[in-house]
Amino acid sequence: MAETVSVLISQEDVEARIKELAAQISKEYEGQDILLVCILKGSIFFTTELAKHITLPVTFDFMSVSSYGDATVSSGRVKIIKDLDDSIEGKNVIVIEDIIDSGRTLHHLLALLSVRGPKSLKLCTLLDKPDRREVEVDVDYTGFKIPDAFVVGYGLDYKQHYRNLPYVGVLHLDEE
Ligand code: IMP
Ligand code: MG
Repeated sequence: MAETVSVLISQEDVEARIKELAAQISKEYEGQDILLVCILKGSIFFTTELAKHITLPVTFDFMSVSSYGDATVSSGRVKIIKDLDDSIEGKNVIVIEDIIDSGRTLHHLLALLSVRGPKSLKLCTLLDKPDRREVEVDVDYTGFKIPDAFVVGYGLDYKQHYRNLPYVGVLHLDEE
């Protein structure tokens, strides 16, 4: 299998859109502090680029989750691999995700965080594949809605590779 990647969203377009999201967030939270919760590992590039353009006081925390396999998905669980370091009680939390696909991960993660008493809890995703949604998720900030294709780059991986591509590309697995 030969793997090739074709550009879907150029670096220039990704970064321009992230600046717009940062401006929108800075305006909506004017006069307040924000805690950015980066969902590892896919959201690291998005989180840092976004944060650089937010003009308010920002702190960071990191969480790593994995979805259970299909067999147990109906139990509605995500497994926490690494939890947040600090309490989110009374804080303006924005969860930063790389991509929303079925919506299961974020649906369960938001439920889990909302009971920890944040002052506010919002969701910001770089990419959204709305055609694939199985569970409803309220997304507050979306970078790009994309068609149902497997994408890599700007933090997104295929078997842990391609995260460092500076653009978002579609992965093609070609028979040789
Ligand atoms: P969901 O629970 O189905 O919404 O899963 C979302 C997670 O699946 C994302 O955080 C990604 O880790 C992964 N994922 C979904 N679609 C893609 C893709 O096109 N490329 C890379 N990872 C993806
Ligand atoms: Mg992810």
